[in-house]
Amino acid sequence: MSDTWTAVDGFVEETLHADDPALAEAMAASGAAGLPPIQLSAPLAKMLHLIASSIRAERILEIGTLGGYSGIWLARALPPAGRLVTIEVSRQHADVARSNFERADVADQVDLRVGAALDVLPVIEQEDAGPFDMTFIDADKSNNSAYLEWAVRLSRPGAVIVLDNVVRGGAVAAATDKSGARAAITWMGAQPRIDSTVVQTVGTKGYDGFAIAVVK
Ligand code: DHB
Ligand code: MG
Repeated sequence: MSDTWTAVDGFVEETLHADDPALAEAMAASGAAGLPPIQLSAPLAKMLHLIASSIRAERILEIGTLGGYSGIWLARALPPAGRLVTIEVSRQHADVARSNFERADVADQVDLRVGAALDVLPVIEQEDAGPFDMTFIDADKSNNSAYLEWAVRLSRPGAVIVLDNVVRGGAVAAATDKSGARAAITWMGAQPRIDSTVVQTVGTKGYDGFAIAVVK
């Protein structure tokens, strides 16, 4: 099936996405620097962009910058005075992302923080950089419950939280799941401050899915 999934993503991009040389260059630069090719598929990245646009997000938080691919899509949904705060633990990945943000002409709207998210998030809280209208979590999976807790804490009511990689080829359905997906979804289900669901996805990145939540 995966050839079909890739073909559909290709058709969607060709038909619904504008040509975007900066995004293509960001992917090429990330690949050349040896970053793992685990950025979002273009349709899913555009879905984040459309969510951010539709809620008129002005402050977006991202946990896990990688090479900045999803960050460019998110930043492009912001008004001129809007801000994306994005956190990356790897100095090397952050350097690649910084130049990708510059090339995409979104660097002025992006506040890139290098460090472990669980160290950086308290600093962001202290600085009053929030509350955020939207948070995208796509980092090390073992800390997902802690990241979700921070996202809820730094969100305004009505904010959207999206968490990547929660289906993992269906692994989430097994009580023995070790991917972190089941633990994160279970955490979400027990949280009175958010209302959540999971959308399963297929595409160039295989069979996975994301959780989406709205903060009450
Ligand atoms: C993988 C995919 C992701 O989207 C991610 O955030 C981490 C890992 C993977 O396919 O291994
Ligand atoms: Mg991911």
